[in-house]
Amino acid sequence: MIICIMDNRPVLFLDSGIGGLPYCHHFHRHNPAERLVYVADRAYFPYGPREQGELIGLLIALMTRLMRLFNPKVGVLACNTASVSALAALREAFPGLPLVGTVPAIKPAVLESRKQRTGVLGTERTITDPYVMKLAARYRPECTVMGIAAPDLVEFVEHRHTLADDEERRQVVVPYIERFRAAGVDTVVLGCTHFLFLLEEFRAAAVPDIGVHDSIAGISHRVEALLDRDEKTMRSQENQEDPLNMLVVTGEAPLEPSWQSRADAFGLVLHRLEDLDPPRGVLHPQALTIPAGIYP
Ligand code: DGL
Repeated sequence: MIICIMDNRPVLFLDSGIGGLPYCHHFHRHNPAERLVYVADRAYFPYGPREQGELIGLLIALMTRLMRLFNPKVGVLACNTASVSALAALREAFPGLPLVGTVPAIKPAVLESRKQRTGVLGTERTITDPYVMKLAARYRPECTVMGIAAPDLVEFVEHRHTLADDEERRQVVVPYIERFRAAGVDTVVLGCTHFLFLLEEFRAAAVPDIGVHDSIAGISHRVEALLDRDEKTMRSQENQEDPLNMLVVTGEAPLEPSWQSRADAFGLVLHRLEDLDPPRGVLHPQALTIPAGIYP
């Protein structure tokens, strides 16, 4: 028997920038009653070139603020770099928060590789982390894994994607697929959430000989499993009016206009974290209308 405990607290998604938005959107499409808070850590973007210790420190500090402000029921690190670097540390620091990490979809890629050559495209931090190689070795030790760091693609998606036309998007993707093809790779893992914005371009460049893998559906399933675990449900009440899903951006600078377009495109209400959680105890007037009482 399933015991129903309605839990209207939000599911929190976190990335260095916009990369996790497709993950958040996928989860929302399948779970429309759930309240969502998506956090883009603009203040520390990009994560990819940072050291593991620095990432652990800044993510624990950020999560401390987010826990206080939103009291989420589940957290999703919608960022491979953050997950390979800091998931274990965050779980230790916040033992009461079920946390889902996003890691490159290595397992299906190595299992499907006919040539036993798989490519992983990610940030410098992700592709050099031993975790990726360990995953490959666990599921198919005879498979060679070739990692390529693509910091320019992360920047492109974060700052240029919406302005670029189809041809420009194709042109940024093709050289990476060609490098993998030249190396005899026949399955490629998109190991950075930002690259999901270029999924169609990757698929088009990869046909007919390279399969492209991502983790987007797997992450939604993992969150759903956590909400329904232990014969209890932590689901939100159906038919909530105005679930107030939010896009929260860190950093003190005023928000660039592109943030509003992104919020609109994903149906999210835009806020600066500094307005919701003002530093030094100064209460910004906007904060009065947002957090108190929305998420008990
Ligand atoms: N979107 C992130 C990932 O999945 C990282 C991008 C960055 O900040 O370098 O790894």
